[in-house]
Amino acid sequence: MFDSSVRTLVVVGAQWGDEGKGKLVDVLAEQADWVVRYQGGANAGHTVYVGEQKTVLHQVPSGILHPGVRCAIGNGVVLDPAQLFVEIEKLVAQGVDVVGRLYVSDRAHLVMPYHKQVDGASSASKAIGTTGRGIGPCYVDKVARRGVRVLDLRNPARLRTLVEAGVGHANEQLVTSGSALRASVDETMAFLSDVAPRLLPLAEDVGLALSNAVKARAALLLEGAQGSLLDVDHGTYPFVTSSNTTVGGAATGAGVPPTALHAALGVVKAYTTRVGNGPMPTELGDALGEEIRRIGNEFGATTGRPRRCGWFDGVVARYAARVNGLTALAVTKLDVLDTLPELKLCTGYLVDGELLREFPGDLGLLERAVPQYDVLPGWRKSTADARRWDDLPGEAKRYLYRLEELSGTPIRYVSVGTRRDQIIDVKA
Ligand code: IMP
Repeated sequence: MFDSSVRTLVVVGAQWGDEGKGKLVDVLAEQADWVVRYQGGANAGHTVYVGEQKTVLHQVPSGILHPGVRCAIGNGVVLDPAQLFVEIEKLVAQGVDVVGRLYVSDRAHLVMPYHKQVDGASSASKAIGTTGRGIGPCYVDKVARRGVRVLDLRNPARLRTLVEAGVGHANEQLVTSGSALRASVDETMAFLSDVAPRLLPLAEDVGLALSNAVKARAALLLEGAQGSLLDVDHGTYPFVTSSNTTVGGAATGAGVPPTALHAALGVVKAYTTRVGNGPMPTELGDALGEEIRRIGNEFGATTGRPRRCGWFDGVVARYAARVNGLTALAVTKLDVLDTLPELKLCTGYLVDGELLREFPGDLGLLERAVPQYDVLPGWRKSTADARRWDDLPGEAKRYLYRLEELSGTPIRYVSVGTRRDQIIDVKA
């Protein structure tokens, strides 16, 4: 997707996460100079297969498997340093060269052990079904201006003051939620003095490095985590994550100007999944939903939780296209639908007798929404070996044309399996 006019490309999920962004980023990283994570943290699970080798990345950008590509964790990420080192060690054991290629923004906020305690104990987190990785509580501290940033590790006196404020707030939360756990300033300081010598050598002014890369017309790939419908502003609030997962978040979270973003690739599954609670109008609560979960191996890459499965939702995709300004779509997991005799695509919601074609902000409306479907015949053939558009069965093409029409965005890629090579570039 990179060419002389597209030097900066954002890849975002256009549903509720788990769309297969990791694979697309890995494929596109071949043409990139930089791959950058800009929001979220260890709640993400980006799965990349190279041959039979499966790698799940939580915080390290999915470009790391391409030698020569520089990877950055931007200021908008909430970074769990202990988890980062577990991930780096696994990559190194796999023979991946990480040293000198991974940069961490000195302005990124740190997820503390007490953020995870608060996330685990809070009834609000349970109601949302969070990943328990401390993401929400860390962003709360960031916005409340008591967060700890990577650069604070350089200043022990300031660090202690911030930790005291953070621990004090965390303990209030733990008491309120009835938890017996308590955070401790000394234990937190000991944790930070352990991670500081390993983290500080990776710390950089990532915004400056990326802005210089933009000026030099380097190819930048900005890798979104979660999905557009989990965006704290545009998603199914309050059943969302605590960051801006949409393209706007790429500029603020990487530290590059919005005007530097040239194109946006939205990744959608050929059907819909969601993990955690909150509305999902096209959910299939029946045997078919279970069959899709089994064929698609729909279990969370981070938490192992079963994902809720349902039909493709054109209202969601069109909304994501609008909010993100998508310039192209990548449709993943088409092969999961290979055996189904009949397929449905949602074209609108019937709410209280009225047809809604725009995604509503009011969850009450969404909960009452009755999806309206187009029904298309299945292709009942394997698509796993398709490498060109013309290799696809006619019914699959018809399904994709309708999906494209409903989304209002041209399809550029179709993924037909987990491996790197199982992809169709429609323009190739
Ligand atoms: P949190 O991000 O852990 O606070 O969780 C908030 C919501 O976002 C929950 O519904 C999670 O299941 C969902 N979520 C967070 N990260 C991901 C992800 O990477 N994929 C899918 N859902 C996610």
